[in-house]
Amino acid sequence: MKPLSHKHFWLASSLLILLAIPVAALDNGLAKTPPMGWNSWNKFGCNVSEKLIRETADAMVSTGMKDAGYKYVVIDDCWQVKRDADGTIVADPGRFPSGIKALGDYVHSKGLLFGIYSDAGSLTCEGRPGSRGYEFQDARTYASWGVDYLKYDWCHAERQDTLESYGLMSKALLATGRPILFSLCEWGSTKPWLWAKDVGNVSRSTGDITNCWDCKVSPDDNVGVVHILDLMNGTEAYAGPGHFNDPDMLEVGNGKLTPDESRAHFALWAILAAPLIAGNDLRSMDAETKAVLTDKEVLAIDQDPLGKQGRRVAKDVDQEVWARELQGGNRAVALLNRAATPQSITVKWEDLGYPAHLSAQLRDLWQHKDLGAKSGSFTATVAPHAAVLVTVQP
Ligand code: GLA
Repeated sequence: MKPLSHKHFWLASSLLILLAIPVAALDNGLAKTPPMGWNSWNKFGCNVSEKLIRETADAMVSTGMKDAGYKYVVIDDCWQVKRDADGTIVADPGRFPSGIKALGDYVHSKGLLFGIYSDAGSLTCEGRPGSRGYEFQDARTYASWGVDYLKYDWCHAERQDTLESYGLMSKALLATGRPILFSLCEWGSTKPWLWAKDVGNVSRSTGDITNCWDCKVSPDDNVGVVHILDLMNGTEAYAGPGHFNDPDMLEVGNGKLTPDESRAHFALWAILAAPLIAGNDLRSMDAETKAVLTDKEVLAIDQDPLGKQGRRVAKDVDQEVWARELQGGNRAVALLNRAATPQSITVKWEDLGYPAHLSAQLRDLWQHKDLGAKSGSFTATVAPHAAVLVTVQP
């Protein structure tokens, strides 16, 4: 074999050094537990304005959402209209007459955090300017406005590579020196659970949620609550503190789901360690909606410090058992009835990784009621399109 030339020796050793350096996980110190907040899209679509955002920030405080742990107020698509001569992104002057910086200041004055939306392609999904080619400039602009959270979409990005595009904005945000939570939204198209923990704090795993229990909407592949659950199953190994999989924003309080369906939606999102981003009008929320969104015991499941995403541990046609490991060895368990008639659903200890003889204390979280000690299994009658949520504490 010919000895390596000087040049090739250095090339080969640099390559070896490069390969030996592990890819650093994104460390912006954020999302140690799943982020909680509100986003304009599900209820308001493009109908966003500084009035709406200010009133929502006010309502976040007055309704007790802030005290329950919701922090981020996020404007989704349609706040932006063009770029100026320097390429700086410009907010709609009619809808945001005081400018985005003043709006961010207002949100901060309420003790809340402020979020905004852009897109990795040339245009957003609603055809507003995207960040492609302006990543570093946009990141600097957001930081100067006091932005704490960026949701980054994937429309008009057909010939782009997801890791490269999201990686670029991730670097741009880090380079600002401001901690900005990075929320990826490429709809699960390139399995972001496999690569996104090095890039962002949250990554959408599915297409858009539709405000229904089990419908499917073509041609966009938008799906209802239970279909999202099916899509999430199998992504659980990849979530943890600093990076969570995102089954999309909440439809609780948006008028289509029944009270049982709303509680099941929320309970399952807690089992999934999902970001809890309310998508309803907080200014006119009824008591039932508020009770769901601010339930302390259910929120504690979502925010469990271990950060473990749950999974489906048993399924029999329309009867499902979903479970999540909690700090201290306990489990949170959702008995989900997808059928239109009441069902008796059982969770077996062996499906939770417990020996069958183990005695454990059961607590019903929606009823806020201890159910006593059980061994081997627990059975509940579950209403149609509902979930009973319990903790199991050996
Ligand atoms: C995509 C996203 C949604 C929302 C809209 C805005 O569909 O997945 O969550 O941000 O774009 O146009």
